[in-house]
Amino acid sequence: MKITVINGTEKKGVTYRLKEIFLEGFRSSAEITEFYLPRDLPGFCCGCTQCFRTRQDLCKDAPYVQKIEKAMLEADLLVFTSPSYVCHCTGAMKAMLDHFGYRWMPHRPSKEMFGKRAVIITQCLGAGEKSTAKDIKDSLSWWGISDIRCISFKLMSEIDWNKMPAKKTAEMTSKVQALSRKMTSIDYSKPARTRLPAKAKFYMVRMLQTNLGKQDPEYTDFKYWKENGWLDKERPW
Ligand SMILES: Cc1cc2nc3c(=O)[nH]c(=O)nc-3n(C[C@H](O)[C@H](O)[C@H](O)COP(=O)(O)O)c2cc1C
Repeated sequence: MKITVINGTEKKGVTYRLKEIFLEGFRSSAEITEFYLPRDLPGFCCGCTQCFRTRQDLCKDAPYVQKIEKAMLEADLLVFTSPSYVCHCTGAMKAMLDHFGYRWMPHRPSKEMFGKRAVIITQCLGAGEKSTAKDIKDSLSWWGISDIRCISFKLMSEIDWNKMPAKKTAEMTSKVQALSRKMTSIDYSKPARTRLPAKAKFYMVRMLQTNLGKQDPEYTDFKYWKENGWLDKERPW
């Protein structure tokens, strides 16, 4: 199986430690590709909207974005990690997610995303671990992913793993290992089930695209939905 990891920080701190613990169970069996942000996607979205309006390869950051997208589409499991920065994901992670705005369901979602599984690992010192995970989950669910598991921690006293009370590191380690075991036991030859919220989003957008297509049959997103057969009987799941 293949795993693609998007690390929201380049720092080898607590987020990194938790992610390494999660991956331990997969190391012998999985092919793991990791991206570290901002190194592997250093640019911000400049708002040119070329990706939405015409073609994603016209983005100034297309070589970076497409490399990440290829790895994500090939993966059976996606792992996203971020520490909490002012109660949200890191700016680097947000910049990465912005680059995939055109893959949100109201635009041009990838069929492959509907069958994927994802894990989000976040942590903070005192507040914001859940809102950080939500920042990432919002995008993933609008990309069409139904099976998204979040694991989040509050450190409370110390931010250096090696100085943390042993009880705290043991507790976090055991929770991450439990999730890792659960995720290793999945049969990845079968795609994840697309659940009702994703289907509801799909049908809402389907209606929207049908109406937009009546106004302008050349509209980029409408043409994409039509070509995929989603305005007829085809479904991405
Ligand atoms: C810019 C910045 C903003 C932060 N904002 C928060 C915050 O809102 N809430 C919080 O609990 N911790 C906050 N922290 C602390 C980090 O979340 C915490 O130190 C975390 O463990 C860092 O993870 P790392 O070791 O993987 O870098 C912030 C740290 C930085 C650098």
